[in-house]
Amino acid sequence: MGRLQDRVALVTGAGRGIGRATALRLAADGARVVVNDVDAEPAHETAELITAAGGEAAVGIFDTVDLAAARELVVTTVERFGKLDILVNNAGITRDKMFHNLDDELFSTVLDVNLGTAFHTTLAAMPYMREVAKAEIAADGHPAYHRKITFTSSVVAFTGNPGQYNYTAAKGAILATTKTLARELGPFGINVNAVAPGFVETRLTAAKEAGGALGIPEAHRQMSLAMIALGRFGQPEDIANVHAFLVSSDADFISGVTIPVTGGQFGGMG
Ligand SMILES: NC(=O)c1ccc[n+]([C@@H]2O[C@H](COP(=O)([O-])OP(=O)(O)OC[C@H]3O[C@@H](n4cnc5c(N)ncnc54)[C@H](O)[C@@H]3O)[C@@H](O)[C@H]2O)c1
Repeated sequence: MGRLQDRVALVTGAGRGIGRATALRLAADGARVVVNDVDAEPAHETAELITAAGGEAAVGIFDTVDLAAARELVVTTVERFGKLDILVNNAGITRDKMFHNLDDELFSTVLDVNLGTAFHTTLAAMPYMREVAKAEIAADGHPAYHRKITFTSSVVAFTGNPGQYNYTAAKGAILATTKTLARELGPFGINVNAVAPGFVETRLTAAKEAGGALGIPEAHRQMSLAMIALGRFGQPEDIANVHAFLVSSDADFISGVTIPVTGGQFGGMG
């Protein structure tokens, strides 16, 4: 029996990269998983991978930058699987520019996707996580079990990063969000934690030379690699493993922390 048997999880940004790996890992651990992404095709692929591996998944194509869409996503989850126990706030993007070249559009887009989606989805989850736990406490004196919220922050929230003012502002706010929500929701048996990945190979960190708005220059990739003690880039599964640990009962007494997962990146808090 998997350690997340009988649990229902919602993972945002689960069509690709870290979110996909996390959705797959939670499903492998026994959770029924709602795969959310703004892009339908990769989201359906993730769900198919889960089903092919013997797990249970549903898909929600909602852009939770919009609060109404976040509410619809959570309601869809509960209608499909009956409840919501685990929320992994993972959706994120980068739009890198040096600070002096930023404008409102670049600032708001990155804040909206990295912080706004996490705010909206977590807010939308409250009736099904906080209120349900509150009713259990009223009836039995304690919540039936620990419910879990995790966020994907980034190690650059600790270190700063040239060209990422917008992104570090959002990811830094996630650190503070984690601490505040851990304090507010702890009395309801809801653990709130974050993972701060270092350099993980996904489309966000692919060589920019390949084109597109995402990615980083190859020279920066090589500089980053030289800083990693374990001598390799992270893989999405390296981060998924830590989300999976934090949402499991193995981490029932951990709340309000952000775990750096960087392969021992110098200057990267781990
Ligand atoms: N790759 C890294 O090195 C790294 C390092 C630190 C933190 N992170 C963070 O990890 C998270 C996942 O990033 P990734 O590297 O897997 O990137 P990715 O681009 O491979 O995956 C992110 C997914 O989020 C989806 N998404 C974007 N906006 C969305 C929205 N509004 N609602 C729902 N889904 C949305 C995208 O469509 C995409 O499928 C992000 O929060 C990112 O900031 C990544």
